[in-house]
Amino acid sequence: MDKLKMHSPNLTDENVAMIRDMFPSCVTEAADETGKLRWVVDFHSLSQELSDYIVDGGQERYHLNWPGKREALIISNAPIAKTLRPAPSESLEYANTKNLLIEGDNLDALKLLQDTYLGQIKMIYIDPPYNTGNDFVYDDRFSQGSSKYLEMSSQLDADGNRLIANTSANGRFHSDWLSMIYPRLRLAKKLLKEDGLIIISIDDVESSGLRLLCDEVFGRENFVAQFIWKSRVSEDTRATSGVSTDHEYLVCYSRSDSAYFRGSEKDVNKFSNPDDDPRGPWRSADLTGLATKDARPNLHYDLIDPKTEINYGCPPKGWRFEPRTMEQKIREGRVLFPSSVDGRPRHKLFMNEMKSLFKNISSVVSGFSTADGTRELNSLMGGVAFTFPKPTALIKLFVEQITQEDDIVLDFFAGSGTTADGVMQQCAADGLSRKFILVQIPEKLDRESPAQGTAAEFCDKLGVPRNIAELTKERVRRAGARIIERPRHPSWNADVGFRVLKVDTSNMQDVFYRPDEVGQADLLAAVDNIKPDRTPEDLLFQVLVDWGVDLTLPIRRETIHGKTVFFVDDNALAACFDSGVTEELVKQLAGHVPLRMVFRDNGFVSDAVKINVEQIFRQLSPNTDIKSI
Ligand SMILES: C[S@@+](CC[C@H](N)C(=O)[O-])C[C@H]1O[C@@H](n2cnc3c(N)ncnc32)[C@H](O)[C@@H]1O
Repeated sequence: MDKLKMHSPNLTDENVAMIRDMFPSCVTEAADETGKLRWVVDFHSLSQELSDYIVDGGQERYHLNWPGKREALIISNAPIAKTLRPAPSESLEYANTKNLLIEGDNLDALKLLQDTYLGQIKMIYIDPPYNTGNDFVYDDRFSQGSSKYLEMSSQLDADGNRLIANTSANGRFHSDWLSMIYPRLRLAKKLLKEDGLIIISIDDVESSGLRLLCDEVFGRENFVAQFIWKSRVSEDTRATSGVSTDHEYLVCYSRSDSAYFRGSEKDVNKFSNPDDDPRGPWRSADLTGLATKDARPNLHYDLIDPKTEINYGCPPKGWRFEPRTMEQKIREGRVLFPSSVDGRPRHKLFMNEMKSLFKNISSVVSGFSTADGTRELNSLMGGVAFTFPKPTALIKLFVEQITQEDDIVLDFFAGSGTTADGVMQQCAADGLSRKFILVQIPEKLDRESPAQGTAAEFCDKLGVPRNIAELTKERVRRAGARIIERPRHPSWNADVGFRVLKVDTSNMQDVFYRPDEVGQADLLAAVDNIKPDRTPEDLLFQVLVDWGVDLTLPIRRETIHGKTVFFVDDNALAACFDSGVTEELVKQLAGHVPLRMVFRDNGFVSDAVKINVEQIFRQLSPNTDIKSI
């Protein structure tokens, strides 16, 4: 059935805009009966968004498609039975740091971060595998078997004959990459702040597909720029085509139109607030127009200051605004009238209203190359090779342009950890305290491989498992140590630590576990099903993840009445997972007036105590939200 044509002509633009904001991929362009292009709801995509099974159908419409796309969509929406387990011994400044280093598949990590970091991240930088043919691209275990793929991509006829020679490898190659990146970008978008930006490093292999995909995920109107980065300075040519490619791209999208680049200092310094205007810093801008009287007669009129009644006449190319807009600007006190009739009126441009100040940030990023990235890593890690680490200057540039005090920078393809290094370096330079979250899968390092041999050896020397996540941790440790040794801005909080959290299966055995979805009876069964290797800290972090509590808050562990109690950020959350909890302990905990309190469901010394818990809290700390696991 042609669902697209069923879209109601009565749908208001506002409704469509709301759907578009929530699900950009479900609103597309289509021609109406008169052939005019308009925004319409793609009901097929919308029904797929709202289903956890594959919805059949679809018709011609403007969109990017590939075999496996619907599975990838389902994957991005599907819940997971996983948790984040803290690893204090692998962390640095575990108790006090505001930075996170998550070890595991970023698809899981992005899902686990949704509740806590929804709309909280100011800048995401990622440098995913470019799909050069040698990369490890995580398959999320949903790619089809080869024959199913061939059938789906119409390369087999009904008799099972192959129609097109030698294209299946290519077709699947790109599809798999898109299927890998699509769910991750969808999840990443939800983490971005309203004024947040994402920057994605990419080369020619996937840049065209990535742009179309990002148009769908972030909305085409949120495309900011595709920066060209001159990444290679050496003259050796690598291309068989005879065209040597010495650049790659940084594809940038915003979460909404409130995102902006700071611009160069030169631009920012033009703004000031000499008259304490409550609308903030401003600069004066030209008010004269650019059109002849013949071309734009409505811009040609005498401009008169209503207060002094001085008439400033009309400049040869008229004014910038037509009379009604000009009147409005005068009413708002935005027009600056000079005291002399010979002067030219100007108008106030407010910094916070400027969509963008970045006209001086060139779309060509240059001055540092991948070779710098390699050199930096070498100097920190004594000769360890990593395939094309990015230079820290690249990260610093975007961190400086986009982020401010307290902002969080996320990189979920962390590799050698350049992003953390760049963030810390920028903080040391300008004194602003920012936070980072890195995600890196413990991808195995092969000692025999020329590309990975030195890194594998390095892990052996450190006595850690041979994988990239270990390399990431060590790089960030060493980078931080070097940065705080050097001169740094006195205002920076010098947080070079990181809390390591590892993606792992749920702490509960064999059950998909979310406290809010499990009934009382199930819970009793579930608590006894805590895996034997899980610690109270593991349970605590599962609670933080589920409750969406900041994962970097300080945690204090105390023994009260012989039981272990955790206080997260003093009173943001208190938790006791021990058994044998008495009424005395409950009273004491209620006396701390925590915002949230967690017990183990079968952890009370008697049923009577359990029944009394709510009553005790109602009296001593009525605003506490109490839950049990
Ligand atoms: C191109 S590298 C990033 C390099 C990094 N920008 C640097 O400067 O070192 C991509 C990284 O993403 C990691 N990666 C690939 N798939 C991943 C996944 N599903 N989850 C987490 N990390 C992944 C790879 O192991 C690799 O280290």
